[in-house]
Amino acid sequence: MSTPVRILHITDPHLHAHREARMRGVNTDDTLVATLKQALAEPRRPDAILATGDLVQDETRAGYDRFRELTVNLDLPVYCLPGNHDAPGLMREVLAEPPFQFCGVARHGAWSLLMLSTFASNDDGGFLAPRELEFLERTLASSQSGHCLIALHHQPVPMGSRWLDGVALRNADEFLTICDRHAHVRGIVWGHVHQASDRERQGVRLMSTPSTCAQFKPASDHFALDTRPPGYRWIDLHADGSIDTSVVWVE
Ligand SMILES: [Fe+2]
Repeated sequence: MSTPVRILHITDPHLHAHREARMRGVNTDDTLVATLKQALAEPRRPDAILATGDLVQDETRAGYDRFRELTVNLDLPVYCLPGNHDAPGLMREVLAEPPFQFCGVARHGAWSLLMLSTFASNDDGGFLAPRELEFLERTLASSQSGHCLIALHHQPVPMGSRWLDGVALRNADEFLTICDRHAHVRGIVWGHVHQASDRERQGVRLMSTPSTCAQFKPASDHFALDTRPPGYRWIDLHADGSIDTSVVWVE
């Protein structure tokens, strides 16, 4: 069997302009550094890094510059998409050139990785604008001979946490309707919810990944932090369309 495409999924690092800054008691710069260090010390190198939004907390260029500094020399493509805390214009500017890619599609062997923007101004929830939905439909229609993994920031299915489900993907129905029409969508992965989950819906693997900083308490009706450490996810994409995945917590 051929070697799978290995994606290192990191999300919600919430960097600041100043490295000493903390968010909810956590130095987010330190935890991103520790996360990358542990993940990249593992025996099998990834083929790409996928970062699904909230790269910065304070919408500063300096925050994106720092993300760039930490990931530019890893000899890996770094795929990025925005979350509700991002400034997509700035983000796209700083992360425009290879090894970075801002949204769009990336191809690895039989797999297409589709990265969508769910950013909506003045809303912590997400929305897929018509052009994103058109891009999704068009790209899925033209990639039917392979397999697709879709990445976005906001959850397209409920997490069972009242406050978090109030800031979900607002037009998830439209998104899922398109996905349901294309049997080669194999997986959907997101950030935003700062917790791990892994389930299946109509044969599609649905995964959320912990933040590289603080986590939210699963199933909580109100905002509450979890005691879990930073985390990341491995996603192995096999040529037959199957997915192996696991979450690793940072020690
Ligand atoms: Fe978010």
